[in-house]
Amino acid sequence: MEPTLKKIDHLGIAVNSIEEAIPYYENTLGLKCEKIEEVASQKVRTAFFDLGGVHIELLEPMSPDSPVAKFLETKGPGVHHVAFAASDLPAMLAKAKDTGVRLIDEVPREGANNKKIAFLHPKNTGGVLTEFCSCGCH
Ligand code: CO
Repeated sequence: MEPTLKKIDHLGIAVNSIEEAIPYYENTLGLKCEKIEEVASQKVRTAFFDLGGVHIELLEPMSPDSPVAKFLETKGPGVHHVAFAASDLPAMLAKAKDTGVRLIDEVPREGANNKKIAFLHPKNTGGVLTEFCSCGCH
């Protein structure tokens, strides 16, 4: 079966400090921080907010060599990536590769929430860092 994207799973937003960013999401937007979790593989702390099944994922670097630290240095805080839930993650990656898109992750790795994730290279995606994740829907 042809792999498909099911929904936008989350938007990743780079912040210098999760604690400083949370009041905007909670007090102004009225969202609730569900949890804060460290993702060692990406050297980031994450905070999650649910909005109708689509999440906002705040990303704070835990070390200067985190990819998010480099993003903050060059671009400042803001939207970092868009994550799509795929029906079949390995097949979706293979399909992207077949269409000529460079993969940052050839093999899915461990992301937050015990999900498998993989990134496509923004050079091939119109400048939008794109993440595919397993949707857990099969
Ligand atoms: Co993400």
